[in-house]
Amino acid sequence: MLDKKVKSIVLAAGKGTRMKSELPKVLHTIFNKPLLSYVIDAVNNTGYIDENFVIVGHEAEKVENFVSSSFANAKCILQAPQLGTGDAVNKATPFLKDFDGYVVVVCGDTPLITAETLKNFIDFHDNNHADLTVMSAIFDNPKNYGRIVRDKNNKFVAIVEEKDATSEQKAVKEVNAGIYCINWKTVSESFNNLKNNNAQGEYYLTDIVKWAVEKHLVVQSYILENNEEIFGINSKIQLSEATKILNKKSVIRLMEEGVQIVDPDTTFISPETTIGADTLVLPNVYITGKNTIGKNCKIGPFAHIRDGATIGNNVRIGNFVEVKKSVIKDNTNVSHLSYIGDAELGSKVNIGAGTITANYNPITKVKSKTIIKDGANTGSNSVIVAPVTIEEMASVAAGSVITKDVEAYSLAITRSPLKVFSNWVKNKIEQYSGGNK
Ligand code: UD1
Ligand code: MG
Repeated sequence: MLDKKVKSIVLAAGKGTRMKSELPKVLHTIFNKPLLSYVIDAVNNTGYIDENFVIVGHEAEKVENFVSSSFANAKCILQAPQLGTGDAVNKATPFLKDFDGYVVVVCGDTPLITAETLKNFIDFHDNNHADLTVMSAIFDNPKNYGRIVRDKNNKFVAIVEEKDATSEQKAVKEVNAGIYCINWKTVSESFNNLKNNNAQGEYYLTDIVKWAVEKHLVVQSYILENNEEIFGINSKIQLSEATKILNKKSVIRLMEEGVQIVDPDTTFISPETTIGADTLVLPNVYITGKNTIGKNCKIGPFAHIRDGATIGNNVRIGNFVEVKKSVIKDNTNVSHLSYIGDAELGSKVNIGAGTITANYNPITKVKSKTIIKDGANTGSNSVIVAPVTIEEMASVAAGSVITKDVEAYSLAITRSPLKVFSNWVKNKIEQYSGGNK
């Protein structure tokens, strides 16, 4: 435990021009979850943070709406115009007057950063009683990053941006990861002293290093082990690369936990999905959001689990089945071509091919619930119009449209009676061939 309070500043005011999008960069998603959420979750999951300040600028209103509806402990601060990373952090200073603790600064567009790394980083800062700790990473190709500059005694003395660097500095492979832990009481004064006399005409956050060194404060770097974690998103190509990296971590974790994944390359499973051992996941399965899936299930091929699914053991979710916000209990089968949304399925339920839970009224925009109790079954191509309950062991005949509750052990059928016209085809053939056989 730390005896200092920790707050965070998340930099998210930049435009993200290369995304070529009307959506602010930090609201682009991986597995349906915005980049900014990955970062704030990682910060919060260190267990150290009591308050986050998100610096917003470009499309500020959209970002602010998202933050205020998603995070109770986050507050947005407007930076307009955007004069650089130092100016961005400086915007938070009025909210941190007399704050005697640590401030962790992170970027809102690095979704791969983990809570574990941030926690170790803050611990490192705290254990060494540092005033300023900068996260650094080693890259063979350090292009575009700020370089960590050391003096002849190997002491960390400054960060120099690529555009301001000498050729000797450009050769340095240790770069600034853009994550800082600041002892606010001793270092915050530096923000009033930043200058913008550099190649980009910006107030650089990185200049606080030089300031703190000149004041003989304790300044150190923390070298990141896995430099993948600071991978920043600037384009749709990088967004897809980050999705693949996150997915790879997720499928590897699940396989280590005993899940059989036939083809990790075509299987996408969000990091917030848990799956029990011996469940078999077949190719082309796409799972987003937060879900719990039990043991010994069979999922896919070509299944889509969207979010909020709680699936028990020995459940079959077959091809072209979509599941959203539903509970499915043990030993239930949804084997083919079905949509299960806002539903509760008991155990040993059998859902026939092509069954649809019609959960959405497009006029009222209300979503309603379908309840199908233990042992009940639906025949192929039935539509269950919510809100509705199908009681235990009830049976819905194929092709039925169910708009009322169905009592236990009963059969519900809305099909019109079958008529068979004998020799109908034969007669037609004779009619059209004009009697010439
Ligand atoms: C910054 C660092 C660089 C480091 C790199 C790591 C500075 C001067 N340089 O460079 O040393 O290697 O990150 O990725 O800090 N932002 C604002 N307001 C602004 C400007 C930026 O909120 O006025 C935000 C951006 O949205 C982004 C973050 O700050 O999330 C970093 O800004 P960016 O322009 O990407 O800085 P880099 O040039 O990458
Ligand atoms: Mg950047």
